[in-house]
Amino acid sequence: MSFKKDFVWGAATASYQIEGAANEDGKGLSVWDVFCKTEGKVYNGDTGDTACDTYHRWPEDVALLKELGVDAYRFSLSWPRIMPTGEGEINEKGLAFYDQFIDALIEADITPYITLFHWDYPYELYKKGGWLNRDASDWFAEYTEVVTKRYGDRVKHWFTLNEPQMFTGLGYQTGKHAPGHQYGPVDIITMVHNALLAHGKAVTVIRKNVVDSEIGFAPAFYPLMPKTDDPELIEQCRLMNFDELSVDLKDHRNEFAFSQALWADPVYLGKYPEWVYVHFGEILPKSLEDDMKIISQEIDLYGVNIYQGGFFELNEQGALTPSKRKAGHAVTGFDWPVTPEALYWGPKFVYDRYQKPIFVTENGLSLKDWVSLDGQVHDPNRIDFLNRYLLQFKRAAADGVELAGYFQWSLMDNFEWESGYKQRFGLVHVDFETYKRTPKDSYFWYKTVIASNGENL
Ligand code: FCB
Repeated sequence: MSFKKDFVWGAATASYQIEGAANEDGKGLSVWDVFCKTEGKVYNGDTGDTACDTYHRWPEDVALLKELGVDAYRFSLSWPRIMPTGEGEINEKGLAFYDQFIDALIEADITPYITLFHWDYPYELYKKGGWLNRDASDWFAEYTEVVTKRYGDRVKHWFTLNEPQMFTGLGYQTGKHAPGHQYGPVDIITMVHNALLAHGKAVTVIRKNVVDSEIGFAPAFYPLMPKTDDPELIEQCRLMNFDELSVDLKDHRNEFAFSQALWADPVYLGKYPEWVYVHFGEILPKSLEDDMKIISQEIDLYGVNIYQGGFFELNEQGALTPSKRKAGHAVTGFDWPVTPEALYWGPKFVYDRYQKPIFVTENGLSLKDWVSLDGQVHDPNRIDFLNRYLLQFKRAAADGVELAGYFQWSLMDNFEWESGYKQRFGLVHVDFETYKRTPKDSYFWYKTVIASNGENL
């Protein structure tokens, strides 16, 4: 089996990473606006103040998407652009910006997929405790109410939270992302619960305001993968991916906010993994049972961002152990290992456990691309990377995993969080002085993949 007929091909971006216009037309501050201005936090002192200048150049972006032939575009809304202090006051100019953008997409025959929250949290709400405050879920529900009422007649596809592991784990556990704290486990589990409740309340609001809605959640996943096809090894990897122990094994991700099951089990299975009750039973709110009903309302998709995974094998004692990478193994611009099998095992493990159609909401790589003397951008390694990953994704389909779609990250080079503009993930090159967009070779290649529904892979 290959990709089904109505498989959705697209590309993705996020508001803070592309929009710019950080202080225009009544937009409020987000935690990223403030973080970027704090010395030493972002590579080269870069900020998202102008980013790709999409706020002014969006017609060019829509034209690029149309030419690419995508079925859909995943983008996020800037909460503080729409609600400058996060609650209460509504900024009509902010709402109007997305209105025209959504209309232009639809006009170009591109289906909009909105991510409600992709990390640019309103700074004013952060000052009130942000995700630590039990009111956080109501603030998010209020924002969701505003945007679904406004766009729900035209936008049917909604993702609630992008990579909750990262905005809690990187934002509050390691401190590498905004707002840059290093909080302890009790605070983290409190935020996790409030963020999950925010997801649940948003689902209620979307269902109420949007007829024929399709809803997903978009956690990140770094699958632990079997080095061989030994069934015992596969089973151990499967368990480890959703077990507390996986947290210790994943060398660079030893903080529990990065766990998969911590986020996905409540949403899709209606309960926390056992270790949460063991370690944090007394901290979880008294309303846990009622909260869990809200959190675990039925949704339609499992959105998942997958860039890489880690291989494991069994040692002589039969225990799972990380495989050594071979000398000179391929890495991306971020030094992430090139592991195409992540797009097989990731969807497979997640589908087996949660039984929801899988939508890969992000996948791609950064390279150090530049414009050549011939005026073009040659990125053969991106073509090869996407080709290899998509072949593995196709293998998952052949194995019976239900696949809904694929969003390549990213339509264009953009502000890559703490790495500033150093990492280029785009199918389209952006010159960050002139904002000129130049489609790369991979853009033209991806176009042929979309046109053939992946048959040419
Ligand atoms: C993901 C983020 C996305 C982008 C990619 C490279 O973790 O969701 O915004 O930064 O990584």
